[in-house]
Amino acid sequence: MKEGHKGFTSSAGVILAAAGSAIGLGNIWKFPYVAGMNGGGAFLIVYLICVAVFGMPLLMTELLIGKQSGKSAYGAFRTITGNNRWQWLSWWTLAGVVILMGFYFVVTGWCAAYLVESVTNAYKGMDATALAEHFAITVTNTPKMILYGLLPVLLTGAILWFGVNKGIERLSKILMPVLLVMMIVMAVYVLMLDGSKEGLLFLFRPDFSKITPQVVMMAVGQCFFSLSVGIGALITYGAYMPNTQDASMTSFQVIVLDTLVALLAGVIIFPAVFAFGVSPEEGPELVFVVLPAIFQQMPLPWLSSVMFFLLLFIAALTSTISVMEVAVASLLEAFGGKLNRHHVVLITTVIVCALVSLVVLSMTGAWSKLTIMQHNLFDVSDNLVTMVIMPLGAMCMSLFVGWFMPIKSIDVVPYSKRPWKKALRPMLIFSLRFVVPITILLVFLNGLGVF
Ligand code: ALA
Repeated sequence: MKEGHKGFTSSAGVILAAAGSAIGLGNIWKFPYVAGMNGGGAFLIVYLICVAVFGMPLLMTELLIGKQSGKSAYGAFRTITGNNRWQWLSWWTLAGVVILMGFYFVVTGWCAAYLVESVTNAYKGMDATALAEHFAITVTNTPKMILYGLLPVLLTGAILWFGVNKGIERLSKILMPVLLVMMIVMAVYVLMLDGSKEGLLFLFRPDFSKITPQVVMMAVGQCFFSLSVGIGALITYGAYMPNTQDASMTSFQVIVLDTLVALLAGVIIFPAVFAFGVSPEEGPELVFVVLPAIFQQMPLPWLSSVMFFLLLFIAALTSTISVMEVAVASLLEAFGGKLNRHHVVLITTVIVCALVSLVVLSMTGAWSKLTIMQHNLFDVSDNLVTMVIMPLGAMCMSLFVGWFMPIKSIDVVPYSKRPWKKALRPMLIFSLRFVVPITILLVFLNGLGVF
């Protein structure tokens, strides 16, 4: 770790914090509903291909940029090149982080509200219609949404206050194993329901005729979102990595954990959905309307509901920590001499509170004129980050490392003499120069309707 930061102190800490950054709402909220709307098994196959083709090289790329520079997204490109020619990419990633926080904290707030309401048994006796009405009323209730939206911002700020190893690393080491154990327990429990097999077939038996350009687009967007690549979150964690840590192995472990959690979320949600005869194509409301309704019909409704929303909230929190840390680390680098970590955490928390309030006001209709091209700020920020900022940011980072970073510094496996590990560097460079940027560009142009 270079000057100015205190980094992670253990290899497990790096892996669990990076996995915590990746594992979040993307895995448990988005993956099931996007897979549900895009053909189940067909979507899963395309998604797994995207993870292998883009995910692995891009994770390594971000960790390498951070490790090589010892800086966050703000200072990394300038430090590596020694000039300001790539500084625009820092601004691009920081814009991505700010826009992402706007909508991500709002959904984390929904999880907090649903957790509190589950604990108080507020859904007792409600059916799907009543829960759909409840969801519509909840997400348009301005004071409630501001309150619950600001709660995770304050919690994240409090964790970041304690710094990288006492805050982020320590919490990740506790929360990530808790999350995994809770998910496995819930998956086993759901699989014991009659009729759960249909749900498993929906997720794991692909119907290849369902693979369309739209499915490919959605899978690419989901891959970037789920792995948090393209917005510099992992550049920052790369800067906190010990110098001897193997970036390729860390990326591999993070990808395995991230994919495992997405699959576990599918294994919890689809069997339950099919066992109770509900359509898997419900969209974003799947986990906030359909699941609570299903929990009410299952044995142990209170426990199922509390456990599910607790794990959703934990997963979201480990991601908000990493995303807000990008802003904190960047501000620290920019104003290092004048402000310390506590000042910067306070400033960031206040700014993010204002941002989240704006998104809520736009979304709940309280400030109905606060829209862009007739879309509220929530929808605009979600689509902008997932479909534009992350893929293009990742494409530019891949070109930067592939073509402009000195080859000798592309050191994914430090001090390794094993032949297969040595082969990783040329493979990574080829992938970053050609495979990743060309594929992202083609998918992006296809999304714009160019073909
Ligand atoms: N990677 C984070 C998630 O999946 C943003 O929620």
